[in-house]
Amino acid sequence: DGDADGGEGTASDGGTAGVGDIVHEGLRNLEYRGYDSAGVALVGETSGLTVAKRSGEVDNLTVPDVPDAALGVGHTRWSTHGPPTDANAHPHTDCVGDVAVVHNGIVENHETLKQELADHEFTSDTDTEVIPHLIEEELATDPGLGLLDAVRSVEDRLEGSYAICAVREGDDRIVVARRGSPLVLGRDDDATFVASDVTAFLEHTRDVTYLEDGDVAALSAEGVEIYADGDLVDRGVETVTWEADAAEKGGYEHYMRKEIHEQPEALRQTIAGRLDVDGGDVDLDVSFPPGFLADLEEIQIVACGTSNYAGRYAAQLFEELSGVRATVEIASEYEFGAGRSPDRTLVVAVTQSGETADTLGAVRRANAAGARTFAVTNTLGSTVTREVDDTAFIRAGPEIGVAATKTFASQVATLTMLAVAIGRERGALAAADARPVLEGLRDLPGAVQQVLDAEPKVREAANEYGDSEAFFFVGRQLGVPVALEGALKLKEISYDHAEGFAAGELKHGPLALVTPDTPVLAVLTDGSRADETMNNVTEAQTRGAPAIGCVSAGEEYATLDVSLPVPDVGLVEPLVANVYLQLFAYHVANDKGRSIDKPRNLAKSVTVE
Ligand code: AGP
Repeated sequence: DGDADGGEGTASDGGTAGVGDIVHEGLRNLEYRGYDSAGVALVGETSGLTVAKRSGEVDNLTVPDVPDAALGVGHTRWSTHGPPTDANAHPHTDCVGDVAVVHNGIVENHETLKQELADHEFTSDTDTEVIPHLIEEELATDPGLGLLDAVRSVEDRLEGSYAICAVREGDDRIVVARRGSPLVLGRDDDATFVASDVTAFLEHTRDVTYLEDGDVAALSAEGVEIYADGDLVDRGVETVTWEADAAEKGGYEHYMRKEIHEQPEALRQTIAGRLDVDGGDVDLDVSFPPGFLADLEEIQIVACGTSNYAGRYAAQLFEELSGVRATVEIASEYEFGAGRSPDRTLVVAVTQSGETADTLGAVRRANAAGARTFAVTNTLGSTVTREVDDTAFIRAGPEIGVAATKTFASQVATLTMLAVAIGRERGALAAADARPVLEGLRDLPGAVQQVLDAEPKVREAANEYGDSEAFFFVGRQLGVPVALEGALKLKEISYDHAEGFAAGELKHGPLALVTPDTPVLAVLTDGSRADETMNNVTEAQTRGAPAIGCVSAGEEYATLDVSLPVPDVGLVEPLVANVYLQLFAYHVANDKGRSIDKPRNLAKSVTVE
């Protein structure tokens, strides 16, 4: 849905009672993926199509009693396009209410499609709603067409990523399609199931079939037909051995590790439909008042914790790409400051949750001073979005682990796009200079995947050095916020002493702490003055410290004890290096048996000042 990580639980049943209950239970099992709203559509031979949906958690939803229902689809939403209201809840229907669709993903070209569907009546702000209307149009053009063929034709017109489930009054099949977002099928003696995740139906069956990108399938009480490029295919059956708790985490032991591994997908959602690499431009769907950017004197970033480090990364890019002075403040320390011009200042609040009290306090102080305020957040409908002038969503999907991981990556990617957008609009950045940055962003998901594939090497390093007395993280330039973030991650979940430094500062004091029992982890990539940083690392090594380096692919520092290669993505290389540091923190903490998803003394969303 325009609603990135919704996730739908659907069931098809051969006429026995309780389809609505099965779908409702499936949604409860998927609720960890998002709980902004929930809805179901049930189809019965005589009752036709019945839709019920409302904002709030799955238990807020009353599923109608439809005794003859043989098919049902449902959805629990995590909003990306349009606030969490009843109208934006899935399923979405066509004009006459014959077709209902639930969707996970983003239809990138929904604005264009909406214009092409000018004679249709839209009732929500979601991108998803174009799908039932497109199906309606296909069926109206060729009344002989079944739902399966209609969905196939519609697929050709959709750009972006999706998993969709569609039902139609008078049709005894659920039609599903996937491109980029997961869909898994299951089958027991009486029913066929489909969902974003096996958790939805694990209590019914453990025999599952994973659909592949491009697959379209029709489900009925009798079973499933799967088509790829129009041909019937067999995708085989696998047996899931996880327990329900592990299944919710996609088989990972912790949400944190799952979320680290979700980064390629999260980043794909973050950049979806926003990059114009050839044109050297970005479309963040934000418009500033005329003349505001031309007159802009300063960008002040306010944020806490990991979001603050994302801000520190971005501040350097704002200066380089937008040609505007940029400062970063810890939100709880922020004051607007005398002598500044509020009407020439943009205050950017970076907050995953959108509910952090310190950050909201800073936004309120900026608003009171008369500055223009802008939020970069993961959470639609959050408080910050209601208090700022403009918002860009990072679309990382729900993050459950207290330690922020995928949202840091998506924040930096979003802020990088914002820096390009502002630079381009101000005329401070030529298309030719923007292009390599955008290419880096485009290649970012693949680069992160390569790092994830190298996890065994990081696990080994964590194993070898995890029991050290303390850990130092160093970098220069864009490597500094990554060093700070790497240290925060480690201290947060392992409870070990870890510090991040600008590498050049080591010799001005911290070097006194260095011993053979204090490994140094270094960012040695593009954008972080790798050679100079390596000099500082060598100074620590001379005092006996072991050194682990995240090194640009193709470069080599022979003296490193562990060298972790970072694919070539230019200015976002330090962001890719950060994924190694996340994995390092995870494995050190995991080896110590720490409470990784809920570290002691911490909360995911800090709503007190
Ligand atoms: C990061 O791992 C922490 N959990 C914490 O520093 C967090 O980033 C901070 O509390 C800010 O939260 P926010 O992004 O929701 O505003």
